[in-house]
Amino acid sequence: MVINCKEIAEKIITETKEKITELKNSGIYPKLAVVMVGDGDASKIYVRNKTEACKKAGIETEEYIYNENISQEELIRSIENLNSDPSITGILVQLPLPKHIDETEICKTISPSKDVDVFNPQNFGGFILGDKSLIPCTAYGIIKILEYKKISLSGKNCVVIGRSNIVGKPTALLLTNRDATVTLCHSKTKDLKDFCKNADIIVSATGVPKLITKDMVKSGAVVIDVGINRDENGKICGDVDFKNVEPICSYITPVPGGVGPVTVAMLTNNTADLAYFTLLNDKNIKRKF
Ligand code: GUN
Repeated sequence: MVINCKEIAEKIITETKEKITELKNSGIYPKLAVVMVGDGDASKIYVRNKTEACKKAGIETEEYIYNENISQEELIRSIENLNSDPSITGILVQLPLPKHIDETEICKTISPSKDVDVFNPQNFGGFILGDKSLIPCTAYGIIKILEYKKISLSGKNCVVIGRSNIVGKPTALLLTNRDATVTLCHSKTKDLKDFCKNADIIVSATGVPKLITKDMVKSGAVVIDVGINRDENGKICGDVDFKNVEPICSYITPVPGGVGPVTVAMLTNNTADLAYFTLLNDKNIKRKF
């Protein structure tokens, strides 16, 4: 069965809108600064979708689009200005950045109190330690999809393919925390098929078109496809050979229109939650979640 992820994304955005209304009634007007460098295909689509989702949720956005030749110092200065701008409650720096820019340095620059993506090492560390911090958008979105379909995780064998800081590592952690047995595979994994064949749930985030083929998937498995790639005809496709895998699994997410819209919806949720934390801090109330 193909999971209707657009429906899940809409539900999350509706819930966010309610939080935003509450915040506005308390005098907080969340505003997200969206920083993009260059005009990469995927980044442009993501930024457009994020801006639209924020609008639906009642979050104001401001775009900061820079030429791909911007220096690291200039980009850092721009983020520092956003850090100290009291009208900005959240900052999103769209990745990837051009090769001459050190992404870690940029992530370190984003103020932890405005870091909607959990990119700042202080926030990411808090997340790993289980401190009640925000959760990275895509990993959280994957959990929301599984919860929505009431797919139990306890004792399940999960294979996560891809070890990025944005997707693979946080997803493996969230699944582990929910009592799944997780194997984190990557480009150097030997015999990927053997790991996948034994999995109740496969999460693929590799950027390799049609890496996951029918012979790698156990009958009745759940397949979550995080890839956004182009096939040999230039058409958007995921990491999974959807046409041949779909008939044998119990649930599968499509590409496009799968994990992507849910990630975007989780961004609106995180923007609302960060603004809410600020409200609690202002009132000197301890965080409840
Ligand atoms: N690039 C790919 N995924 C993401 C994401 O979730 N957030 C940001 N900022 N950049 C990305």
